Amino acid sequence: MKSDKSFKYLSNRHLITRCLSYFARFKGRIALAVVSMLVVSGSTGFQAWVVQPALDDIFIKKDGQALVFVPLLFLAIMTLKGVFRYLQNYIMNYCGLKVLERLRFEVYSKIVRLPMGFFEGTQVGMLMSRILNDVLQIKESLPAFIMLTREAFTILILIGLVFYRNAALAMWAVLVLPLAFFPFVFISRKLRKLGRLAQSKVADLSVFLQESFSGIRVVKAFANEKPEIARFQKENSRLTDIGVRQNLFSELSSRIMEQVGVFGVALVMWYGGLQVVEGRATPGEFFSFMAALAMLYEPIKKMDSSNSTIQMAFASAERVFEVLDSPDMVEEAGGALAFEQPFEELRLDDVHFAYAGSETNALDGVSLTVRRGQRVAIVGPSGSGKTTLVNLIPRFHDPSAGRILLNGRDLRDYTLGSLRMSLGMVSQEAFLFNLPVTQNIAYARADFAQEAVERAAQAAFAHDFVLALPEGYETLVGERGARISGGQRQRLTIARAIFKDPPLLILDEATSALDTESERIVQLALENLMKDRTSIVIAHRLSTVLNADMIVVMEAGRIVAQGSHAELLESCPLYARLYQMQFSDPSAEVMDEATL
Ligand SMILES: Nc1ncnc2c1ncn2[C@@H]1O[C@H](COP(=O)(O)OP(=O)(O)OP(=O)(O)O)[C@@H](O)[C@H]1O
Ligand SMILES: [Mg+2]
Repeated sequence: MKSDKSFKYLSNRHLITRCLSYFARFKGRIALAVVSMLVVSGSTGFQAWVVQPALDDIFIKKDGQALVFVPLLFLAIMTLKGVFRYLQNYIMNYCGLKVLERLRFEVYSKIVRLPMGFFEGTQVGMLMSRILNDVLQIKESLPAFIMLTREAFTILILIGLVFYRNAALAMWAVLVLPLAFFPFVFISRKLRKLGRLAQSKVADLSVFLQESFSGIRVVKAFANEKPEIARFQKENSRLTDIGVRQNLFSELSSRIMEQVGVFGVALVMWYGGLQVVEGRATPGEFFSFMAALAMLYEPIKKMDSSNSTIQMAFASAERVFEVLDSPDMVEEAGGALAFEQPFEELRLDDVHFAYAGSETNALDGVSLTVRRGQRVAIVGPSGSGKTTLVNLIPRFHDPSAGRILLNGRDLRDYTLGSLRMSLGMVSQEAFLFNLPVTQNIAYARADFAQEAVERAAQAAFAHDFVLALPEGYETLVGERGARISGGQRQRLTIARAIFKDPPLLILDEATSALDTESERIVQLALENLMKDRTSIVIAHRLSTVLNADMIVVMEAGRIVAQGSHAELLESCPLYARLYQMQFSDPSAEVMDEATL
């Protein structure tokens, strides 16, 4: 799925059964739809049939009874047709929408459970496109199928009528049908291919949109709207080109069908006219025949457009089932053991890790022990593997060699749920959901008491500013928390971690410094969070390293030194250099004194 272009194509039969299997749970309703469909087809046949008595009995024989009976019959049958057509369309739409819902559910549930590695290699816009666009196309498959069957049925009935009226004439009309076969098959293939292309272009577009809107600040800061618009327009017009070609082919298909029909009708006019002229057929028979023939055109056209729809639905179905079936997309799984508190010890034992597609190890033999109650600070130059290291603990990735033991058991023995619930992660980005403040803080649990939320907010020094928000705890904090300041956002994520109350805390301190005042408050909030907890902190603040029980210095995926601040200043030149560069910032010093 990483490249949107390469995947194996599924066979038609597989696609049909697979698409239809989603409709299987509506068996009863679909049966009703099929019955309705038969009624509709039958009454279409009747429409053509009734031309004969109408003409011959009413107009030629001037039969008074027929004059009353035929219009009434016509009225009754056509009303029936309307009612059943309505019923059929309603049922089909209902089932289609329900299947759509189910597919969206399945695709989302599948994707959201995939491991972190998947999301690092996939663009969000593409995932959204699969869930929103591709799935939508599949919804059309069953109605198109039913339509196809209905029209095929109508065609059969009309052809039956045509033969019943005049077999010799019918031969002339049907003679031309095979002419349509090869163009039909050729165009179907073409449409399927274009359908695939169109969906992958929609995905490209969706990737583009997602990126440019979430990066809108950067776009504007660089006054780069124009080039972005040009880039968008390029994708946009590519999609249009494909749409135009799709239309070209489906239109061509209709015209070929029509042309074949015209041939048939011309032949029939000639031969049928001859029969009427020679007195071998009545005008009523002839016109009824012609009516049936003319009416054949409509269902053939509809069959043709249903076919286009089905080809496009299949193109999307391939993309959706690819997500659902791909053996590479295995949901992440943990062991069977529930992690029981209390936390005692976390031990990394010669851990190696390399990112997929990377030649070098991001972690190269890391060993480290963190005991209950300790505060461990990790420092190191950018790219030395600090974030990578802490991301192994919640098993966002698994080590490629070595082990990580929690209370003496391999992390993989624990259920993912229990493992992750016992960890608190506060990351640099301070991500908030577009939910009320309360739900953001109580994200760890669905059932919670408002007091617990407020207590967490108080401990994180967030309570006062939350109360000052327009709707207090019910205020929506917008995507990425756009409606509140950076420091407030950080305090809310800290409140979220306090509320979760995990025994082990992992903290990736923000690198971008806040102003001194809000930095001080965030610092106080963090102190509250770390109180009585074991914590591993990727340190960017002097106070963090000074308060740590142990400082771990990393370089190029290895731990090069461990110890206290004083020890490391003596023994580790890298630490001394980092301290000079990162931590001895005078404003940090002031802030540090304020918090100690
Ligand atoms: N998703 C990824 N895919 C491939 N390589 C990655 C990925 N994330 C990080 N790396 C690489 O792994 C190495 C360690 O990165 P990591 O993010 O752990 O560094 P860091 O110590 O946290 O740096 P910083 O202080 O800048 O946050 C780097 O060389 C980086 O290029
Ligand atoms: Mg990092």
